[in-house]
Amino acid sequence: MSEVAHSGGGVSESADARAGNPMWSSRLAFILAASGSAVGLGNIWKFPYITGENGGGAFVLVYLLCIAIVGLPILIAEVMIGRWGGGSPIRTMQWLVKKEGLSRHWVGLGWLGVSASFLILTFYSVIGGWAVSYVGEAANSSFAGASSDEIGSIFGGLLSNPWQLFMWHSVFMLAVVMIVARGLKSGMEKAINILMPLLFLLLLVMVGYAASTDHFYAGIEFLFAADFSKLSTEAVLSALGHAFFTLSIGVGVMFAYGSFLPKDVPIVKTAVTISVVDTGVALLAGLAIFPLVFANGLEPGAGPGLIFQTLPLAFGKMAGGVFFGTLFFALLVIAALTSAISMLEPTVEWLEERQGFNRMKATIVLGALAWIMGIGTVLSFNEWAEFYPLAFIPVFEGKTIFDILDYLTANLIMPLSGLCLAVFAGWFMSRKVVKEQLGLGDGVLYDSLIFTLRFLTPAAVAIVFIYNLF
Ligand code: TRP
Repeated sequence: MSEVAHSGGGVSESADARAGNPMWSSRLAFILAASGSAVGLGNIWKFPYITGENGGGAFVLVYLLCIAIVGLPILIAEVMIGRWGGGSPIRTMQWLVKKEGLSRHWVGLGWLGVSASFLILTFYSVIGGWAVSYVGEAANSSFAGASSDEIGSIFGGLLSNPWQLFMWHSVFMLAVVMIVARGLKSGMEKAINILMPLLFLLLLVMVGYAASTDHFYAGIEFLFAADFSKLSTEAVLSALGHAFFTLSIGVGVMFAYGSFLPKDVPIVKTAVTISVVDTGVALLAGLAIFPLVFANGLEPGAGPGLIFQTLPLAFGKMAGGVFFGTLFFALLVIAALTSAISMLEPTVEWLEERQGFNRMKATIVLGALAWIMGIGTVLSFNEWAEFYPLAFIPVFEGKTIFDILDYLTANLIMPLSGLCLAVFAGWFMSRKVVKEQLGLGDGVLYDSLIFTLRFLTPAAVAIVFIYNLF
């Protein structure tokens, strides 16, 4: 897309300017793609284990609140800005500041997002690789009747072997590149149209199985019975941080996906749907996992190992464990894949705007770069497990490359750029544009959204951000 296409006045122009650019074929296609991005390792791996660590119900309640007052408003703002600009996050911000006569520093927001989602991809793919390898382990009955030590050594064996990790990371990244390279419609939309329904189906099968055990009620109670005495400050902060990660907001993904959104799709309604789907999947994942954990007398607060160590023990003990175990890890792979696709998209969209890059070339170049950079994460679990490259900076002390990337993106960049996004949309964008894009008109809904973006969201995020830093 050329600079010329984006110049000139009139709000509706951006839509004309990108005529010829691909668009999602329907509102549903966008909902599936954005939910595909949102539903990922965060929902099926991280949400259950942080809920387990933080004692269940009360944490879940705080998390729901964070989604409502922080996650949803930022999601709305991000999709809105993305659609209005119609280009990559960087191009969109360049165009927007020019048009609205704002400081050029705001373009940094686009850069921050694009680089963060790319960095996340480099390590997400390695964890996605764990999930791929676990499909094989489950299908090969490796968990059947295994003791806790044996399961531990499967996980430990995987992590300590850089070649194996690298191979699974490569398989995962190759799948991502193959999908993104084929473009919006014949690549991403097609893949997502198959993968998302499959994900919902597998999830329902897993929940159905959990419901047939005697411990389903214990799972429900764990997730929904709120005991506030178990709630720490730490828990509140991690709920808020997770709200960002799980909705993929603040890092250009929803900018990029929003740039392909047809003009007539109502943004607020659509964003609400995406948040509900994402939250629903996280809760259902909890309902699938905890009953199995309790039925087998295992510990819900096992931390990151919950689904890679605790859950395989349950699969190893239960009837049909090979079948359900394989399904569960396939579900995890699908969730991770549709998220990883979305992490590559902002950078690809940006590179495609440069001269000499079509989608195929842009995807291959960036996919290869992310693949090579992923080696840093691969080695963080073995050869470089004690290599702390940024130890001279206090917050990065004792952190491996993987720890640094994770902390930098999820705890620092995402809240920071989310905060800026809320401030930008709440204070700096013209009311006229916001109203037009959201199609809300005057009314309570519009007023409360602006109030939230102006005050509630920034205040909540600022607290987390400062806490994370110090
Ligand atoms: N939301 C995804 C999850 O819950 C992760 C994710 C997808 C993401 N795209 C992102 C996180 C972009 C940060 C940035 O697993």
